[in-house]
Amino acid sequence: MAGYTPMMQQYLRIKADYKDAFLFFRLGDFYEMFFDDALKATKELEITLTSKNAGVEEKVPMCGVPYHSADNYIRILVSRGFKVAICEQVEDPKTAKGVVKREVVQLITPGTVMENGMLDEKENNYLAAVNENADHTYSLVYHDLSTGENRAALLEGGFDTLLSELYNQPVREIVVSEQLDQPLQDELKMRLGVTLSYQEPGVSNSLSQEKLAGGVTDTRLLDCFFMLLHYVERTQKRGLDHLKPLQVMELKSYMTLDMYSKRNLELTETILKKGKHGSLLWVLDDTVTAMGARMLKKWLERPLLQKEAITRRQDLVQAFLDHFFERDTIRQLLQSVYDVERLSGRVAYGNVNARDLLQLKRTLAKLPELKQVLSDFAEAEVQRMGQELDPLPALHDYLEKSLHEDAPIGVREGGLLKDGFHAQLDTYRDASRNGKQWIAALEQQERIETGIKSLKVGYNKVFGYYIEVTRANLHLLPEGKYERKQTLSNAERFITPELKEKEALILEAQEKSVELEYELFLEIRDHVKTYIPALQQLADQISQLDVLQSFAEVSEKQRYARPTFNSSRSVSITEGRHPVIEKVMKSGEFVPNDVQMDQGSDILLITGPNMSGKSTYMRQVALTSIMAQIGCFVPSEAADLPLFDQIFTRIGAADDLVSGQSTFMVEMLESRHALEHATDRSLILLDEIGRGTSTYDGMALAQSIIEYVHDNIHAKTLFSTHYHELTTLDENLEKLRNVHVRAEEHEGNVVFLHQIREGAADESYGIHVAKLAKLPDSLIERASAILQELEGQGQKLEASAPKAVQEDMQLSFFAEPEPKKEETVKRSDKRAEQVLTELSSINLMEQTPMEAMNLLYKLQQMAAKK
Ligand SMILES: Nc1ncnc2c1ncn2[C@@H]1O[C@H](COP(=O)(O)OP(=O)(O)OP(=O)(O)O)[C@@H](O)[C@H]1O
Ligand SMILES: [Mg+2]
Repeated sequence: MAGYTPMMQQYLRIKADYKDAFLFFRLGDFYEMFFDDALKATKELEITLTSKNAGVEEKVPMCGVPYHSADNYIRILVSRGFKVAICEQVEDPKTAKGVVKREVVQLITPGTVMENGMLDEKENNYLAAVNENADHTYSLVYHDLSTGENRAALLEGGFDTLLSELYNQPVREIVVSEQLDQPLQDELKMRLGVTLSYQEPGVSNSLSQEKLAGGVTDTRLLDCFFMLLHYVERTQKRGLDHLKPLQVMELKSYMTLDMYSKRNLELTETILKKGKHGSLLWVLDDTVTAMGARMLKKWLERPLLQKEAITRRQDLVQAFLDHFFERDTIRQLLQSVYDVERLSGRVAYGNVNARDLLQLKRTLAKLPELKQVLSDFAEAEVQRMGQELDPLPALHDYLEKSLHEDAPIGVREGGLLKDGFHAQLDTYRDASRNGKQWIAALEQQERIETGIKSLKVGYNKVFGYYIEVTRANLHLLPEGKYERKQTLSNAERFITPELKEKEALILEAQEKSVELEYELFLEIRDHVKTYIPALQQLADQISQLDVLQSFAEVSEKQRYARPTFNSSRSVSITEGRHPVIEKVMKSGEFVPNDVQMDQGSDILLITGPNMSGKSTYMRQVALTSIMAQIGCFVPSEAADLPLFDQIFTRIGAADDLVSGQSTFMVEMLESRHALEHATDRSLILLDEIGRGTSTYDGMALAQSIIEYVHDNIHAKTLFSTHYHELTTLDENLEKLRNVHVRAEEHEGNVVFLHQIREGAADESYGIHVAKLAKLPDSLIERASAILQELEGQGQKLEASAPKAVQEDMQLSFFAEPEPKKEETVKRSDKRAEQVLTELSSINLMEQTPMEAMNLLYKLQQMAAKK
């Protein structure tokens, strides 16, 4: 550091503590960045790079952003996953001796942004902390700084379960200890694309930990929670009175969606466009408030398992559905409800202005009416909602009495408070108003005395009050009384001692009143702070009400039916529909289908031509179950469902490009995950398993997976396939049933009827689809010819292809090679030899399923090589 100017030394000292952040170093009206920060920032922010003399020979790279527009730049950096440390001058440069003292006053990180413009109002912004415990469980804490929410969960199923959970509930940033295994850290960063931050556990902080622990005693959870709290306190350096006590999430009391399902089923965003439009959330969201929208998303991410809790929600939805007019009134009242939840956070944080508090007042003003509407319902649950709603009349009256209706955005220029709220403030205001009246009267009087009708008394910031006379009238002014202050092109401005005396009084009163107003406003803010827990409770009640009315609204518009639940593992859906597809289609076009799976039927094997609706049918079962378990009604005429504990999906070509896995590998990973964790209370969707590999491989895998599920898991399973050969499985597998999607051939074209029927489909119609897609005619003809030839040669695959060894999945992948398989292999003897050598050198008994799958993948790659 020697050789640098004192200021640069100061910079380097501070920067050493914030190595992983951009240090915004305040210099006058700019935040400056130096060295690497400057080089990176010019790229990210597209601002000019300059350099600064810093005492040493070589100039230091530098760039800067103006202080008043810094928010924008900070937003860009944070949204890209960076952190920004704000370093301010903490003493007055005028009185400072030597270098002005500077300190970092806030560290803004992706998981801790509070600034309004940087938050999506309909989404929570979660920061998480993860800790690996000595017993190899993981502790996970979620925290939303803007709402004060704190939730913890203990994950016992290893790192995969942790990843699954974090997929399901996305976070922007994760706090971990530097001791966490490096590969795990990399995995978190890579797979989830989050910012990692470091904090060692076991450091104490000044927050009232005991209160925030909320009665939780598990030290594994508390250690992780305190680690997170410490991180938040260290970075924010501000009031955190709005933090709510820790709540423990029993993950077992919610339906688990594996890490693939939320994405595959497009619950909150679509796979392709990553937007809400086209997702289930998009269909279900008819909430009125931002708080309601956030809660709906949370519910969707965690469907319930307890029948009582679901029934309670259903009862409320039913009540709102049955009372259209009341629901309409409720929706109207909710229109004027402000985001009380985030407001509480900002009250604690100290950045609310008078306008925010006025919004709060207007919200409170609507509550008595809302309470009344709810209490007037005949249904007991709704009545109770009304009774439990506390409109906080004392707070409303206080804000009504104190805040001026037209208060400005700023809090330091006065005009915030009403007359009559505070005696001293009134005195100052009177003085200033009287003075202004006196000045108005003076204008009148001067006009009479001088006879100049156009004489004006005005005010500007430089000269204060003045008397203005046009040049033409100057001769009318008496000598000596007026002192010339300013000359304009066609007028002169004067002052008198009398005028200046009054001016001093007015300005003093004004200054004092503005100062006092600011102090009083801080008092008001502190007073509102005492209401934070009550406001948070209110926010929670209003959010719930909003989600439930939204369910009612959507259920009415989309004609959903109230589902019932059974404990006999039976699925019975009459005329079920796919909620998203039916919404984007013109009404009446979607073909409803039944789903019947009683105790005796666990697996539906679905066949049918391409584009006929197999995937749609499978997804609609999963979406219907999820909707049912969050308490919403479902797209069908009637539905009786089990309470599924978990949903697993393997759908579509979801190449995991980010982590560099092939389609087939992803397919195998997703299948493994399902086979490992599913129970007889789960729902599994397997869409065309084995499609990503050669026919024999694929079919062998598909069959053995079906058998494994059938014999060992007993989960309700929907399995679609193009391998018609699999449809004979129902002969041996008692709980498997064939269904197919009907299509008809009409004058050489396929007509999709989208109707599900019992039994297997007879033809694949693939070539017809190619025709629909308008591939060249000659190509289509050639394909038909080849098909006929193949069928003629009897080369269609036999249904019983590879016989799987049922007790052992690992073996089933490599079941005794059938003679036919060798025929395929002959095509390239050399390659075949390689594969065979590799195959024979493996000791299968020592392989884990995962290793076997990797190997299979490798073999397949070898076989496919040209
Ligand atoms: N029940 C239905 N009513 C009306 N249209 C439907 C229905 N089911 C599916 N469709 C339409 O058919 C299209 C194809 O459906 P889907 O993707 O489910 O077919 P698929 O059988 O899975 O095809 P592939 O074999 O190519 O995967 C859908 O995008 C939708 O537009
Ligand atoms: Mg499909």
